[in-house]
Amino acid sequence: MLLSCLDSMSAIDVLRRVPLFADLAEADLCHFAEVARGREYPKNSVILFEHDPGDALYIVSSGQVKVVLVGEDGREVILSVLGDGDFFGEMSLIDDEPRSAHVIAMKDSQLLVLRRDDFQTQLVANPKIALKLLRVLVQRLRRADLSIGGLVLLDVNGRVARLLLDLAEEAGGPKITRRLTHHTIAQMIGSSRETVSRAMRELVERGCIEVSRREITIRQREALVALAGSRA
Ligand code: CMP
Repeated sequence: MLLSCLDSMSAIDVLRRVPLFADLAEADLCHFAEVARGREYPKNSVILFEHDPGDALYIVSSGQVKVVLVGEDGREVILSVLGDGDFFGEMSLIDDEPRSAHVIAMKDSQLLVLRRDDFQTQLVANPKIALKLLRVLVQRLRRADLSIGGLVLLDVNGRVARLLLDLAEEAGGPKITRRLTHHTIAQMIGSSRETVSRAMRELVERGCIEVSRREITIRQREALVALAGSRA
């Protein structure tokens, strides 16, 4: 559905929540909202396929998606989990290469889709967007560096501790409300569900974390920092 100017208010609200577009003037936001298309993806549907050509940028209005690589034997590595206000699909728009990974809905998700031309026009017209985009890309590179380092330098307990610290940082406090199964955590840190469950149990027994149905609370941040190595 193409959103008209009059009924694009919800798209404007979504765009305003996206850090990338937060500083845009109202007129630019309105323009983006007019050209954005809303799309719904049910849980488990594939939004982007690795190796496909890329012609659009996607913004998560609501829901949760995962960025994954799938091995020939069907095993998945999760590179990132993205939620409300996050964007993806920018890499192919920037370097004209095919999609670098699959993106799959983890929950029923609503997305806004911006076509390549519309996004690139705004990027050229608004250097602030370009700078913010660079910032997000650098943050993603930092995370990727940490993951690579963790795979080589940390045991599974350390990798779980580091992921929990990352999620707490993202949540802005000790309570992690993003709900990830042990299977998903295992796919994020290159381990098995059983090993992750054991590591989480150990962390609970040592009083480092508390786990309830709705959230994970970090009780002893310093202990997690020590397990995760040099991270402050
Ligand atoms: P693109 O390559 O166009 O399509 C797949 C998208 O997944 C990619 O753009 C990025 O938006 C996103 N992506 C790829 N790797 C990562 C990563 N390590 N962290 C977060 N997002 C990623």
